Amino acid sequence: MHVAIIMDGNGRWARERGLERVEGHREGAESVRACIEAAVEDKIDQLSLFAFSEENWGRPADEVGTLMKLMMKSIQEETENLLSHDVRFRVLGDLEKVPGILRAAISTLEEVTAACKGLQLNIFLSYSGRWDILQAAKRFAADESDPAGASAADFEKYLVTAGIPEPDLLIRTSGEQRISNFLLWQCAYTEFYFTPVLWPDFRKPEFRAAISEFSHRDRRYGKVK
Ligand code: FPP
Repeated sequence: MHVAIIMDGNGRWARERGLERVEGHREGAESVRACIEAAVEDKIDQLSLFAFSEENWGRPADEVGTLMKLMMKSIQEETENLLSHDVRFRVLGDLEKVPGILRAAISTLEEVTAACKGLQLNIFLSYSGRWDILQAAKRFAADESDPAGASAADFEKYLVTAGIPEPDLLIRTSGEQRISNFLLWQCAYTEFYFTPVLWPDFRKPEFRAAISEFSHRDRRYGKVK
């Protein structure tokens, strides 16, 4: 099973408490840890987290800096934990925009966990669905000898998610009910789950409630039963 999450509501969680937005992101990082743990315990195959969108580069510089530092810190602190739980770590997105020091830490963690066979953790960083489709289209046009005869399966090999099965379930926290340029191509038949819970409050019980609701969905993929 592949679970994807749009982690939303860190800022509102902080504001409700009279705290800086940054505090919401710090608490949100704890929810990231909790959901990874739940995914490992429940033997989920793939967990995809939308950590930072292309559009997020437009936030105030200090908030962007804090988010990058938080990711750096999480990588440093969690390496051993990921390895001991057999988690394969990957980061997907337009990484040219990411500070070099973070990019290097990401590459190292991707390499050391490359052979892990348990949960695959996909962190989407500097990512947007339209960017992904466009970069795929450019490479497809340059590489394919017979574009007119190509199938969807031929095209999707160029998406950054090539080889990763499509999400079965997409969770979005904080009450917003939209996809916000996340996995546009990949979510064609994904089930959506929206919850008013803000991301810093989304922990193991909330994660499991979403999976449980999903297990009752009737998926027909446009066909009849
Ligand atoms: C959305 O809340 C959250 C983000 C843009 C960032 C998500 C990042 C983390 C949880 C930090 C750590 C990540 C990793 C992978 C360790 P928002 O700021 O949009 O909230 P708002 O809509 O209430 O303002």
